[in-house]
Amino acid sequence: MLFISKKDIGKISQEIIQNAVKKAYELVLNNSYNMPDRIHVGDEQNTLLLMPCFSKEFFATKLVSVFPDAVKFNQPAVNGVLVLADNKTGQPLAIMDGAAVTAERTGAVGGLGVDLLTPENLEIAGILGAGVQGLSQARYILFNRRISKLWIGDLNLKAADKMARILEKEFPQVTYVTTDNSEELVTASQLIIAATTSNRPLFKNDPGLVKGKTFISIGSFKPDMKEFPDAVISNADHVYVDTLFAAKESGDICIPLEKKVVEPEKIKAFSSLLAKPVCLENKTCFFKSVGMALFDLTVASAVYKLALKEKMGQKLEF
Ligand SMILES: NC(=O)c1ccc[n+]([C@@H]2O[C@H](COP(=O)([O-])OP(=O)(O)OC[C@H]3O[C@@H](n4cnc5c(N)ncnc54)[C@H](O)[C@@H]3O)[C@@H](O)[C@H]2O)c1
Repeated sequence: MLFISKKDIGKISQEIIQNAVKKAYELVLNNSYNMPDRIHVGDEQNTLLLMPCFSKEFFATKLVSVFPDAVKFNQPAVNGVLVLADNKTGQPLAIMDGAAVTAERTGAVGGLGVDLLTPENLEIAGILGAGVQGLSQARYILFNRRISKLWIGDLNLKAADKMARILEKEFPQVTYVTTDNSEELVTASQLIIAATTSNRPLFKNDPGLVKGKTFISIGSFKPDMKEFPDAVISNADHVYVDTLFAAKESGDICIPLEKKVVEPEKIKAFSSLLAKPVCLENKTCFFKSVGMALFDLTVASAVYKLALKEKMGQKLEF
Protein backbone atom coordinates (compact mmCIF):
# COMPACT_ATOMS: atom_id res chain seq x y z
CA MET A 1 0.00 0.00 0.00
CA LEU A 2 1.35 3.40 -1.01
CA PHE A 3 0.69 6.78 0.58
CA ILE A 4 0.86 9.51 -2.06
CA SER A 5 1.10 13.03 -0.67
CA LYS A 6 0.17 16.46 -2.01
CA LYS A 7 3.87 17.08 -2.70
CA ASP A 8 4.13 13.91 -4.85
CA ILE A 9 0.92 14.74 -6.73
CA GLY A 10 2.23 18.29 -7.35
CA LYS A 11 5.25 16.84 -9.21
CA ILE A 12 3.05 15.22 -11.90
CA SER A 13 2.83 17.08 -15.20
CA GLN A 14 -0.33 18.91 -16.24
CA GLU A 15 -0.25 16.93 -19.49
CA ILE A 16 -0.55 13.61 -17.62
CA ILE A 17 -3.41 14.92 -15.46
CA GLN A 18 -5.34 16.47 -18.36
CA ASN A 19 -4.95 13.27 -20.41
CA ALA A 20 -6.32 11.29 -17.45
CA VAL A 21 -9.38 13.58 -17.34
CA LYS A 22 -9.80 13.09 -21.10
CA LYS A 23 -9.65 9.32 -20.49
CA ALA A 24 -12.57 9.69 -18.04
CA TYR A 25 -14.71 11.26 -20.79
CA GLU A 26 -13.64 8.45 -23.18
CA LEU A 27 -14.86 5.89 -20.62
CA VAL A 28 -18.17 7.81 -20.51
CA LEU A 29 -18.43 7.64 -24.32
CA ASN A 30 -17.75 3.87 -24.24
CA ASN A 31 -19.98 3.37 -21.21
CA SER A 32 -17.07 1.54 -19.63
CA TYR A 33 -17.39 2.50 -15.96
CA ASN A 34 -19.65 1.98 -12.97
CA MET A 35 -20.46 5.10 -10.94
CA PRO A 36 -23.49 5.82 -8.77
CA ASP A 37 -24.66 9.42 -8.20
CA ARG A 38 -22.48 10.75 -5.42
CA ILE A 39 -23.88 10.97 -1.91
CA HIS A 40 -24.19 14.39 -0.22
CA VAL A 41 -24.28 14.46 3.57
CA GLY A 42 -25.13 17.97 4.75
CA ASP A 43 -24.38 19.37 8.20
CA GLU A 44 -25.56 23.01 8.40
CA GLN A 45 -23.56 24.81 5.68
CA ASN A 46 -20.94 22.01 5.47
CA THR A 47 -21.04 19.01 3.12
CA LEU A 48 -19.39 15.59 3.01
CA LEU A 49 -19.38 13.96 -0.44
CA LEU A 50 -18.87 10.20 -0.89
CA MET A 51 -17.67 9.45 -4.39
CA PRO A 52 -17.13 5.82 -5.46
CA CYS A 53 -16.38 4.60 -9.01
CA PHE A 54 -15.19 1.42 -10.78
CA SER A 55 -13.26 1.02 -14.02
CA LYS A 56 -12.13 -2.35 -15.46
CA GLU A 57 -8.71 -2.09 -13.76
CA PHE A 58 -9.27 -0.16 -10.52
CA PHE A 59 -11.91 1.20 -8.19
CA ALA A 60 -11.66 4.30 -6.04
CA THR A 61 -13.61 6.10 -3.36
CA LYS A 62 -13.05 9.72 -2.49
CA LEU A 63 -14.32 11.17 0.76
CA VAL A 64 -14.27 14.91 0.29
CA SER A 65 -15.66 17.67 2.48
CA VAL A 66 -16.53 21.27 1.62
CA PHE A 67 -16.48 23.69 4.57
CA PRO A 68 -17.13 27.16 3.06
CA ASP A 69 -16.23 29.00 6.31
CA ALA A 70 -12.85 27.25 6.76
CA VAL A 71 -11.30 30.34 5.15
CA LYS A 72 -12.06 32.23 8.42
CA PHE A 73 -9.62 29.83 10.15
CA ASN A 74 -7.07 30.23 7.36
CA GLN A 75 -7.80 26.68 6.21
CA PRO A 76 -8.83 25.33 2.78
CA ALA A 77 -12.55 24.72 2.12
CA VAL A 78 -11.98 21.33 0.44
CA ASN A 79 -10.30 18.39 2.26
CA GLY A 80 -10.32 14.69 1.63
CA VAL A 81 -8.86 11.24 1.24
CA LEU A 82 -8.91 8.96 -1.78
CA VAL A 83 -8.47 5.18 -1.66
CA LEU A 84 -7.51 3.38 -4.87
CA ALA A 85 -7.96 -0.40 -5.08
CA ASP A 86 -7.42 -3.26 -7.52
CA ASN A 87 -10.53 -4.36 -9.43
CA LYS A 88 -9.41 -8.00 -9.77
CA THR A 89 -8.52 -8.76 -6.18
CA GLY A 90 -10.23 -5.93 -4.27
CA GLN A 91 -6.93 -5.11 -2.53
CA PRO A 92 -6.34 -1.47 -1.54
CA LEU A 93 -3.32 -0.14 -3.46
CA ALA A 94 -2.92 3.48 -2.44
CA ILE A 95 -4.17 6.27 -0.22
CA MET A 96 -3.84 9.76 -1.64
CA ASP A 97 -4.36 13.33 -0.53
CA GLY A 98 -7.92 13.77 -1.81
CA ALA A 99 -7.75 17.58 -1.81
CA ALA A 100 -4.65 17.53 -4.03
CA VAL A 101 -6.22 15.04 -6.48
CA THR A 102 -9.38 17.21 -6.49
CA ALA A 103 -7.53 20.46 -7.20
CA GLU A 104 -5.43 18.92 -10.00
CA ARG A 105 -8.23 17.06 -11.73
CA THR A 106 -10.63 20.02 -11.39
CA GLY A 107 -8.01 22.31 -12.92
CA ALA A 108 -7.71 19.85 -15.80
CA VAL A 109 -11.52 19.61 -16.19
CA GLY A 110 -11.53 23.40 -16.64
CA GLY A 111 -8.44 23.10 -18.85
CA LEU A 112 -10.17 20.72 -21.26
CA GLY A 113 -13.12 23.14 -21.29
CA VAL A 114 -10.71 25.92 -22.27
CA ASP A 115 -9.16 23.68 -24.94
CA LEU A 116 -12.49 22.77 -26.58
CA LEU A 117 -14.59 25.89 -25.92
CA THR A 118 -12.27 28.86 -26.50
CA PRO A 119 -10.46 30.10 -29.61
CA GLU A 120 -6.76 29.24 -29.84
CA ASN A 121 -5.88 32.95 -29.98
CA LEU A 122 -7.60 33.71 -26.65
CA GLU A 123 -5.87 36.72 -25.06
CA ILE A 124 -7.68 37.82 -21.92
CA ALA A 125 -9.19 35.56 -19.27
CA GLY A 126 -10.68 36.13 -15.83
CA ILE A 127 -10.91 33.92 -12.74
CA LEU A 128 -13.57 34.63 -10.13
CA GLY A 129 -12.56 33.09 -6.80
CA ALA A 130 -8.90 33.20 -5.78
CA GLY A 131 -8.95 30.05 -3.66
CA VAL A 132 -7.44 26.60 -4.18
CA GLN A 133 -9.55 25.75 -7.26
CA GLY A 134 -9.14 29.26 -8.72
CA LEU A 135 -5.35 28.89 -8.65
CA SER A 136 -5.52 25.46 -10.28
CA GLN A 137 -7.92 26.78 -12.96
CA ALA A 138 -5.47 29.60 -13.72
CA ARG A 139 -2.60 27.14 -14.14
CA TYR A 140 -4.64 25.05 -16.58
CA ILE A 141 -5.78 28.11 -18.59
CA LEU A 142 -2.09 28.96 -18.94
CA PHE A 143 -1.27 25.36 -19.86
CA ASN A 144 -3.83 25.42 -22.69
CA ARG A 145 -3.63 29.01 -24.00
CA ARG A 146 -0.95 31.72 -24.40
CA ILE A 147 -2.95 34.52 -22.83
CA SER A 148 -1.45 37.97 -22.28
CA LYS A 149 -3.64 39.16 -19.41
CA LEU A 150 -5.32 37.37 -16.50
CA TRP A 151 -7.90 39.10 -14.33
CA ILE A 152 -8.30 37.68 -10.82
CA GLY A 153 -11.44 38.60 -8.88
CA ASP A 154 -12.40 37.84 -5.31
CA LEU A 155 -14.55 39.43 -2.58
CA ASN A 156 -11.31 39.33 -0.64
CA LEU A 157 -8.87 41.45 -2.62
CA LYS A 158 -5.95 40.18 -0.50
CA ALA A 159 -6.64 36.62 -1.73
CA ALA A 160 -6.66 37.86 -5.35
CA ASP A 161 -3.35 39.71 -4.82
CA LYS A 162 -1.80 36.62 -3.20
CA MET A 163 -2.80 34.46 -6.17
CA ALA A 164 -1.37 37.02 -8.59
CA ARG A 165 1.98 36.95 -6.72
CA ILE A 166 2.12 33.11 -6.92
CA LEU A 167 1.32 33.10 -10.65
CA GLU A 168 3.75 35.95 -11.41
CA LYS A 169 6.60 33.68 -10.30
CA GLU A 170 5.40 30.75 -12.44
CA PHE A 171 4.22 32.67 -15.53
CA PRO A 172 6.06 36.04 -15.57
CA GLN A 173 5.08 36.74 -19.20
CA VAL A 174 1.42 37.35 -18.20
CA THR A 175 0.00 40.67 -16.91
CA TYR A 176 -2.18 40.21 -13.80
CA VAL A 177 -5.01 42.54 -12.76
CA THR A 178 -6.83 42.00 -9.46
CA THR A 179 -10.28 43.29 -8.54
CA ASP A 180 -13.20 42.84 -6.14
CA ASN A 181 -15.58 43.98 -8.88
CA SER A 182 -16.87 40.96 -10.85
CA GLU A 183 -18.57 43.06 -13.54
CA GLU A 184 -15.29 44.82 -14.35
CA LEU A 185 -13.63 41.39 -14.74
CA VAL A 186 -16.43 39.95 -16.91
CA THR A 187 -16.49 43.05 -19.14
CA ALA A 188 -12.75 42.80 -19.78
CA SER A 189 -12.44 39.01 -20.29
CA GLN A 190 -13.18 36.67 -23.22
CA LEU A 191 -13.13 33.62 -20.93
CA ILE A 192 -14.52 33.68 -17.37
CA ILE A 193 -13.99 30.79 -14.95
CA ALA A 194 -15.77 30.95 -11.60
CA ALA A 195 -14.47 28.82 -8.72
CA THR A 196 -16.13 30.35 -5.68
CA THR A 197 -18.11 29.14 -2.67
CA SER A 198 -20.83 31.69 -3.51
CA ASN A 199 -24.54 30.83 -3.36
CA ARG A 200 -25.58 33.83 -5.46
CA PRO A 201 -24.73 34.93 -9.03
CA LEU A 202 -21.44 36.82 -9.10
CA PHE A 203 -22.53 39.54 -11.55
CA LYS A 204 -25.68 41.17 -12.90
CA ASN A 205 -28.14 39.48 -15.24
CA ASP A 206 -27.18 41.44 -18.36
CA PRO A 207 -27.05 39.72 -21.80
CA GLY A 208 -24.72 42.51 -23.01
CA LEU A 209 -22.08 41.30 -20.52
CA VAL A 210 -22.08 37.69 -21.70
CA LYS A 211 -22.50 37.49 -25.49
CA GLY A 212 -19.60 36.01 -27.48
CA LYS A 213 -17.74 34.79 -24.39
CA THR A 214 -17.01 31.44 -22.74
CA PHE A 215 -18.12 30.84 -19.15
CA ILE A 216 -17.01 27.92 -16.97
CA SER A 217 -18.53 27.36 -13.53
CA ILE A 218 -16.62 25.17 -11.07
CA GLY A 219 -18.34 26.11 -7.75
CA SER A 220 -22.17 25.73 -7.20
CA PHE A 221 -22.55 22.02 -6.42
CA LYS A 222 -25.93 22.26 -4.66
CA PRO A 223 -29.41 23.21 -6.02
CA ASP A 224 -29.39 26.45 -4.00
CA MET A 225 -25.91 27.51 -5.20
CA LYS A 226 -25.46 29.58 -8.36
CA GLU A 227 -22.39 31.41 -9.72
CA PHE A 228 -23.73 32.85 -12.98
CA PRO A 229 -26.90 34.85 -13.72
CA ASP A 230 -29.52 33.28 -16.04
CA ALA A 231 -28.29 35.50 -18.90
CA VAL A 232 -25.29 33.14 -19.30
CA ILE A 233 -27.26 29.93 -19.90
CA SER A 234 -30.14 31.60 -21.77
CA ASN A 235 -27.79 33.37 -24.23
CA ALA A 236 -25.38 30.45 -24.64
CA ASP A 237 -25.19 28.78 -28.08
CA HIS A 238 -23.50 25.77 -26.48
CA VAL A 239 -24.19 24.44 -22.97
CA TYR A 240 -22.21 21.50 -21.55
CA VAL A 241 -22.07 19.72 -18.21
CA ASP A 242 -19.28 17.39 -17.10
CA THR A 243 -21.90 14.91 -15.85
CA LEU A 244 -25.66 14.95 -16.51
CA PHE A 245 -26.09 14.70 -12.72
CA ALA A 246 -25.20 18.44 -12.69
CA ALA A 247 -28.74 19.17 -13.88
CA LYS A 248 -30.01 17.86 -10.51
CA GLU A 249 -27.11 18.99 -8.38
CA SER A 250 -26.24 22.57 -9.36
CA GLY A 251 -28.40 25.69 -9.14
CA ASP A 252 -26.59 26.98 -12.25
CA ILE A 253 -28.52 24.33 -14.22
CA CYS A 254 -31.57 23.31 -12.16
CA ILE A 255 -32.78 26.87 -11.38
CA PRO A 256 -32.86 28.01 -15.07
CA LEU A 257 -34.51 24.67 -15.97
CA GLU A 258 -37.21 25.23 -13.33
CA LYS A 259 -37.73 28.82 -14.52
CA LYS A 260 -37.86 27.50 -18.12
CA VAL A 261 -35.26 30.04 -19.30
CA VAL A 262 -33.45 27.09 -20.93
CA GLU A 263 -34.74 23.95 -22.70
CA PRO A 264 -33.41 20.64 -21.28
CA GLU A 265 -32.34 19.55 -24.82
CA LYS A 266 -29.84 22.43 -24.96
CA ILE A 267 -27.80 20.87 -22.11
CA LYS A 268 -25.28 18.37 -23.46
CA ALA A 269 -22.69 16.05 -21.91
CA PHE A 270 -19.14 17.39 -22.30
CA SER A 271 -18.04 13.92 -23.49
CA SER A 272 -20.07 14.52 -26.70
CA LEU A 273 -17.81 17.52 -27.42
CA LEU A 274 -14.79 15.22 -27.49
CA ALA A 275 -16.50 13.10 -30.12
CA LYS A 276 -17.80 16.10 -32.11
CA PRO A 277 -16.17 19.55 -31.67
CA VAL A 278 -18.41 22.59 -32.29
CA CYS A 279 -17.92 25.87 -34.17
CA LEU A 280 -16.89 28.61 -31.73
CA GLU A 281 -16.92 31.67 -34.00
CA ASN A 282 -18.86 34.50 -32.29
CA LYS A 283 -20.50 31.91 -30.06
CA THR A 284 -21.38 32.13 -26.37
CA CYS A 285 -20.44 28.96 -24.46
CA PHE A 286 -21.27 27.75 -20.98
CA PHE A 287 -19.67 24.73 -19.30
CA LYS A 288 -20.85 23.71 -15.83
CA SER A 289 -18.68 21.31 -13.86
CA VAL A 290 -19.75 19.68 -10.60
CA GLY A 291 -17.03 17.04 -10.77
CA MET A 292 -17.48 13.27 -10.73
CA ALA A 293 -15.79 10.28 -9.13
CA LEU A 294 -14.71 8.99 -12.56
CA PHE A 295 -12.26 11.93 -12.88
CA ASP A 296 -10.78 11.04 -9.49
CA LEU A 297 -10.50 7.41 -10.54
CA THR A 298 -8.69 8.03 -13.86
CA VAL A 299 -6.40 10.68 -12.34
CA ALA A 300 -5.63 8.53 -9.27
CA SER A 301 -4.90 5.55 -11.57
CA ALA A 302 -2.43 7.66 -13.60
CA VAL A 303 -0.84 8.99 -10.40
CA TYR A 304 -0.49 5.46 -8.98
CA LYS A 305 1.08 4.03 -12.16
CA LEU A 306 3.56 6.91 -12.29
CA ALA A 307 4.34 6.56 -8.57
CA LEU A 308 5.25 2.87 -9.13
CA LYS A 309 7.42 3.75 -12.13
CA GLU A 310 9.20 6.73 -10.52
CA LYS A 311 9.34 5.18 -7.02
CA MET A 312 7.28 8.00 -5.53
CA GLY A 313 5.19 7.78 -2.35
CA GLN A 314 5.66 6.09 0.98
CA LYS A 315 5.07 2.35 1.58
CA LEU A 316 2.60 1.60 4.39
CA GLU A 317 2.05 -1.71 6.21
CA PHE A 318 -1.52 -2.56 7.23
N1 LIG B 1 -16.42 21.23 -10.04
C1 LIG B 1 -15.63 20.49 -9.28
O1 LIG B 1 -15.24 19.38 -9.64
C2 LIG B 1 -15.15 21.04 -7.99
C3 LIG B 1 -14.05 20.44 -7.33
C4 LIG B 1 -13.59 21.00 -6.15
C5 LIG B 1 -14.23 22.09 -5.57
N2 LIG B 1 -15.33 22.62 -6.21
C6 LIG B 1 -16.04 23.76 -5.63
O2 LIG B 1 -15.32 24.94 -5.96
C7 LIG B 1 -15.60 25.95 -4.99
C8 LIG B 1 -14.31 26.64 -4.56
O3 LIG B 1 -13.51 25.71 -3.85
P1 LIG B 1 -12.08 26.15 -3.28
O4 LIG B 1 -11.46 24.90 -2.78
O5 LIG B 1 -11.34 26.97 -4.27
O6 LIG B 1 -12.54 27.09 -2.06
P2 LIG B 1 -11.68 28.28 -1.38
O7 LIG B 1 -12.35 28.58 -0.09
O8 LIG B 1 -10.23 27.91 -1.41
O9 LIG B 1 -11.87 29.51 -2.39
C9 LIG B 1 -13.11 30.11 -2.64
C10 LIG B 1 -12.85 31.58 -2.94
O10 LIG B 1 -14.09 32.15 -3.43
C11 LIG B 1 -14.18 33.45 -2.91
N3 LIG B 1 -15.58 33.90 -2.97
C12 LIG B 1 -16.63 33.41 -2.26
N4 LIG B 1 -17.75 34.09 -2.60
C13 LIG B 1 -17.40 34.99 -3.55
C14 LIG B 1 -18.10 35.97 -4.29
N5 LIG B 1 -19.41 36.17 -4.12
N6 LIG B 1 -17.41 36.74 -5.19
C15 LIG B 1 -16.08 36.56 -5.36
N7 LIG B 1 -15.35 35.66 -4.68
C16 LIG B 1 -16.01 34.88 -3.78
C17 LIG B 1 -13.65 33.33 -1.48
O11 LIG B 1 -13.28 34.62 -0.97
C18 LIG B 1 -12.46 32.40 -1.69
O12 LIG B 1 -11.26 33.11 -1.95
C19 LIG B 1 -16.35 25.24 -3.85
O13 LIG B 1 -17.74 25.50 -3.96
C20 LIG B 1 -16.08 23.76 -4.12
O14 LIG B 1 -17.11 22.93 -3.66
C21 LIG B 1 -15.78 22.11 -7.38
